[in-house]
Amino acid sequence: MKRTAALGAILFVAVIGVAPAQSPHQQHASQAGNGPYAPRLGDLMILQQIRHAKMWFAVAANNWPLAGHELAGLKDGFEDVDRLYPTIQGISTKPVLAALGAGELTELGRAIEDRDRIKFVTAFDRLTAACNGCHQSTGHGFVVIQQPISPPFNNQSYAPGPVHNLPAGAQHPH
Ligand code: HEC
Repeated sequence: MKRTAALGAILFVAVIGVAPAQSPHQQHASQAGNGPYAPRLGDLMILQQIRHAKMWFAVAANNWPLAGHELAGLKDGFEDVDRLYPTIQGISTKPVLAALGAGELTELGRAIEDRDRIKFVTAFDRLTAACNGCHQSTGHGFVVIQQPISPPFNNQSYAPGPVHNLPAGAQHPH
């Protein structure tokens, strides 16, 4: 046990020792003991980026169920970040993500539920500001998110699809 602790301390020192030489865009969950197959933070973020954009074009096309689906994906994505990356650059992500969940993501949920575009755009801009706020405070201020200009993929139509009701009591398959 003692031996493991000592080894841990050596590894810790070694990691800290090389930290300044590493670029800050190599956040890997295995450092937090989550195994080699955990997604990299940057990869989780690219998924968030896609959902952020799709949610926007879903609302632009009046496809509120798709917007809700993308919002659920954003929530899941931030849950993964919370679980796999409790700290980034020595900063605890928990308070930021808790505030995001209670604030911007809840507001977006209400706007989507009410199908209220004005509320949606306000909440969307606040979410985008929160994305950028976290990037700035974690040394990634060069990653700047904005209102999307064109849809990220052209093989997906954002128009509402045919209405298809799930049987009563069935879970929506997010
Ligand atoms: C808890 C802090 C935090 C929040 C909140 C956050 N990000 Fe990030 N984001 C990061 C960090 C840290 C990186 C750098 C990750 C790395 O590569 O190691 C990053 C990187 C990115 C990247 C660059 C990925 C790449 O490698 O090309 C994108 C795009 C991105 N974030 C999108 C978003 C979007 C969109 C949101 C909001 C919906 C968001 N992020 C919210 C911390 C955050």
